[in-house]
Amino acid sequence: MEPRLPNQGAAATGGRDDFAARLETEGLAILSDRPFTLTPRETALLSPAFSDGRAKNISLGAAQGVRGAAAAGASAESLAALMERFAAWAEALVSELAPRYAASLERGRTSFRTRSVDEPAASARKDDRRLHVDAFASQPTGGRRILRVFCNINPIGEPRVWLVGEPFEAYARRWFGRARRPWPGEAWLLRRLGITKAPRTRYDALMLALHDAAKLDKTYQRHAPRRQVSFPAGASWIVYTDSTVHAAIAGRYALEQTFYLPVSAMAAPEASPLRILEKMVGGILC
Ligand code: SIN
Ligand code: FE
Repeated sequence: MEPRLPNQGAAATGGRDDFAARLETEGLAILSDRPFTLTPRETALLSPAFSDGRAKNISLGAAQGVRGAAAAGASAESLAALMERFAAWAEALVSELAPRYAASLERGRTSFRTRSVDEPAASARKDDRRLHVDAFASQPTGGRRILRVFCNINPIGEPRVWLVGEPFEAYARRWFGRARRPWPGEAWLLRRLGITKAPRTRYDALMLALHDAAKLDKTYQRHAPRRQVSFPAGASWIVYTDSTVHAAIAGRYALEQTFYLPVSAMAAPEASPLRILEKMVGGILC
């Protein structure tokens, strides 16, 4: 079955490269017939008991291993194995649907989201119930895209619900003029202090400013254009979270894999936040 995109227009049919092109312009593809199926042993991991109670999610990264889990011994290994299996599944899925990305996909963290989306966030900036585009304070992308694969693995049929906002360009125009310019030497210092894992480019600083400005603006949060998108249990979705304005408002138990993708691997690089912001600034951003 053809993956379904919200706002799907006339361009619904076509070959493999079409998927990438449509994803790049529409931002989000819902796959209702590509579930990631848990084994009975993995299903036993769907419990808040495995969270350390502090981290937002349990996650797995190449360098640090499992983070945010309270589980020790066999359970920690099972959590790592589940996330590793999901990561490989997600990479195969994206490579199948968008073969042009396959050679350039870089795996980021894998997360196992055991908490209810309703739970209060540590701060407004960390509150993903507020509309935003993703930008990571400690993990600059240097212009690469943030492409994420989610699967709603809720065992009792609860949907995961998002709000999806306006197109990236409209969003960026709102905050662009108010974005703080980094002071000279800031990127170097952040790197030196180990706050960022790679140099924070002008692009990264601008994306972070757009992320923070939207989340901290109560009027925007109350009145900005949005539509509700519901992901049923068993659904998977692939989303460019750096260009899709989104907020998670309900749900529990999801798996998520982050990928980084160079703009040069895109079918339509002009749809990237990097190129859109460079057009607005009238110059190179990284
Ligand atoms: C987010 O990326 O803002 C959160 C998405 C989710 O957990 O569903
Ligand atoms: Fe987000």
